[in-house]
Amino acid sequence: MRHILRRASSASLILALSCAAAAAQDAPKTDGKTVGKTDALRICADPSNLPFSSDDPARPGLNVEIGRLVADALHRPVSYVWYRTDFGKRAVRVTMLSNQCDMTIGLPQDSDFMGPRVIFSQPLYRSGYVVVLPQGKKFAAVDDLKGDKVAVQFSTGPQGIVAARADMEGVTVLSPEEGMARLADGKADAAFLWGPSAGYLNQTVYSGRFQLFPVDGQGLSWPTSIGFAKQNTALRDQVDAVLPGLKEPVAALLQKYGAPPAQAIRVNARESATRVAAADASGFAAAARMNQPPAAAQIAQAAQPAPGAAAAAAPAAPDEKVIAEGKEIFNGTCSHCHGPDAVQSEKKIDLRRLTIRYDADMRNVFWKTVHEGRPSKGMPSWKDVFTDDQFEKIFAFLQTVQSKE
Ligand code: HEC
Repeated sequence: MRHILRRASSASLILALSCAAAAAQDAPKTDGKTVGKTDALRICADPSNLPFSSDDPARPGLNVEIGRLVADALHRPVSYVWYRTDFGKRAVRVTMLSNQCDMTIGLPQDSDFMGPRVIFSQPLYRSGYVVVLPQGKKFAAVDDLKGDKVAVQFSTGPQGIVAARADMEGVTVLSPEEGMARLADGKADAAFLWGPSAGYLNQTVYSGRFQLFPVDGQGLSWPTSIGFAKQNTALRDQVDAVLPGLKEPVAALLQKYGAPPAQAIRVNARESATRVAAADASGFAAAARMNQPPAAAQIAQAAQPAPGAAAAAAPAAPDEKVIAEGKEIFNGTCSHCHGPDAVQSEKKIDLRRLTIRYDADMRNVFWKTVHEGRPSKGMPSWKDVFTDDQFEKIFAFLQTVQSKE
């Protein structure tokens, strides 16, 4: 409920802001040297996504503070357009690509992100996954986690890596918060989580009691930069011109918000690159919250044990409990049209055929469809009914019933 209210209020806020912005654009331009109010640099940001951004002035977040630095360097006032980014691409589409703001800080610098519609500045920093360990333990390679219970986020590269190993046990969690909690309560010996969030939690909740080891490898880390709509090359070039001068203050901000150290450990290519490549190619799924990794359920699916690996290397399925909860939600709501337990003889609405139909794109299609619905085809939108966690659970259940042919 809180989620819905929040969404609604940011939507109305953005409307209010966009009217103001439109009015500003109609106003006569100053000569370009004198900077008037009309020249505010409009930055889109999530009102509740720490450590990256927040509408709380007491704790504005990394990207909000970077935005101020950039605006100062360009001698322009700054204004923020708040919008939730639970669905990163959609947020970019309805805000920046609809000219509600001039830039979005913290996008993965990758032409796969939204194709040519979005252009990027030079990288600001690298983001990626980290291995989190109690003090005293060492990490130099995935082998160092042998025998460990490793907390991994559902639908992420690390989940795939751990699933492919017979000699370690994955403990699937749904968020960095949950992963850190499993480590803290001793239910996991190590955690392999989204770095910026793990670092921030370690700093703010756990008083720095864990060590963070950033990893590098395909689908495990990537440059993060500022995104612009493609026609905005002039502004992009201005920003690129001031970024080199902001290196030091940006580094200080990364530290302030608990970012993991920059030095990353390259993990074995056999374990990451080949397996993650397929998922990586599908880009940053619709579900990837801004500044979060590509949500790639496919990674877990792709991460079958290597040929010749011990037969015991069963891919880590998401938790039984998650699947059971997903099934319950499904049977309470979706089964009405899609059949109990997703058993449905009408092919068009047989959700056991999602893998056959969409393969690696299954997750994207799922997220887009459950969120936006296909109203003209009789599929309602569920975004105001269920939370993201509930969608994850439904998805986890649907993955268990996919037909092979
Ligand atoms: C009132 C009937 C109805 C309900 C309830 C319903 N759906 Fe659907 N759903 C449809 C129809 C009809 C389609 C097919 C639309 C089309 O032809 O493109 C569909 C399509 C889908 C698709 C895309 C399938 C594909 O192959 O492209 C997904 C995923 C989906 N539904 C998930 C769900 C989930 C999850 C729920 C429960 C939260 C749900 N649906 C509840 C009617 C429904």
